[in-house]
Amino acid sequence: MKNYAIALLPGDGIGRDVTDAAWAVLEAAARHSGFALNGTRFPWSCAYYKDTGMMMPGEGLNALRKFDAILLGAVGWPAEVPDAVSLHGLLLPIRKEFAQYANVRPHRLLPGVNGPLKATKFDILCIRENTEGEYAGAGGRVHQGTSDEVAVETAVFTRAGVERILRFGFDQARKRRGKLASVTKSNAQKFSMVFWDDMTRRIAAEYPDVEVNNYHVDALAARMILAPESLDVVVASNLFGDILTDIGAAIQGGLGFAASANINPDRSAPSMFEPVHGSAPDIARLGVANPIAAIWSGAMMLDHLGEREAAARVMAALEATTSRGIGTIQGKERTDAVTAAVLSKLS
Ligand code: NAD
Ligand code: IPM
Ligand code: MN
Repeated sequence: MKNYAIALLPGDGIGRDVTDAAWAVLEAAARHSGFALNGTRFPWSCAYYKDTGMMMPGEGLNALRKFDAILLGAVGWPAEVPDAVSLHGLLLPIRKEFAQYANVRPHRLLPGVNGPLKATKFDILCIRENTEGEYAGAGGRVHQGTSDEVAVETAVFTRAGVERILRFGFDQARKRRGKLASVTKSNAQKFSMVFWDDMTRRIAAEYPDVEVNNYHVDALAARMILAPESLDVVVASNLFGDILTDIGAAIQGGLGFAASANINPDRSAPSMFEPVHGSAPDIARLGVANPIAAIWSGAMMLDHLGEREAAARVMAALEATTSRGIGTIQGKERTDAVTAAVLSKLS
């Protein structure tokens, strides 16, 4: 029997609840499809930081490297550990060191879910650059605490980095409806974003079958709400993609519905699967976190592992659940009840 080694990083807050939910569904789907998932749980989190002074041990990345995939809940507990410490100590180094440069985030309505846009149908695939750009961590503060203080955060766009994410987006567009929206802010950012536009033009020449539209990020943010049906694949930089995918989550019914995959397309290191949402301290410990985003992210993991039938099984169970209205009222239903409903629909 095929056996996949999965690293489980539940993290903080509702990350733990939704990871447990996704894991229960994934294990059941694997059983139905005749393969095994062997999970190893790591306690790395803000609680771990408070005990050890580190978000993960020095050998953490090496420990993760040998897994077939990583399933993550959420990282961050800002009341106790500053976000810049926790995220730069765990989530962001995994994405960067494992060259998970394509953050793939699907936005569509599951049946039975009423998003704020009511009847508008849309099916958007956001491809977010995930290893550089505005998240490069380059910069500093001088004259700290004085009236002369200056803080600089340098966005870094390399030719290799921009080219590979655009190519990934074009390849996805080719497999879907053949449309690619390239997102920049080249009217204001005259170096990096003009460079991105140049690269888009250059690579588009190799994909004459793909229709390319260039948008400024502010206009695209409005378009995602006013005309989301006009969008297919959206390719954006790290920060723009982060913001746009919370809009995508909102129009698909809320953060509890938005899945994501941090893909290393070369498979030189494991890819990581996690919901778009965070640790939601406001609802942590209440048992009402929506597990659908995490379960959907788990289906993306199965698909990445090549277990297409099992991935489709999980998506069908999710859709059967939401089409009965279960899991669709965020913050009102219990996590375990939604998970039990999804499990009961697995066949
Ligand atoms: P958040 O996504 O945690 O929460 C935003 C809002 O959405 C909250 O009202 C929350 O209750 C709601 N929400 C989120 N997920 C939900 C779910 N599954 N079901 C129902 N409601 C849900 O964003 P935030 O409050 O800005 O961040 C909280 C912490 O999480 C911070 O430390 C932040 O840095 C971190 N964070 C981590 C990740 C990650 O690990 N991938 C992603 C985003 C934020
Ligand atoms: C996400 C999150 C992270 C990001 C944070 C927690 C660093 O918001 O995965 O969308 O900005 O990438
Ligand atoms: Mn985000």
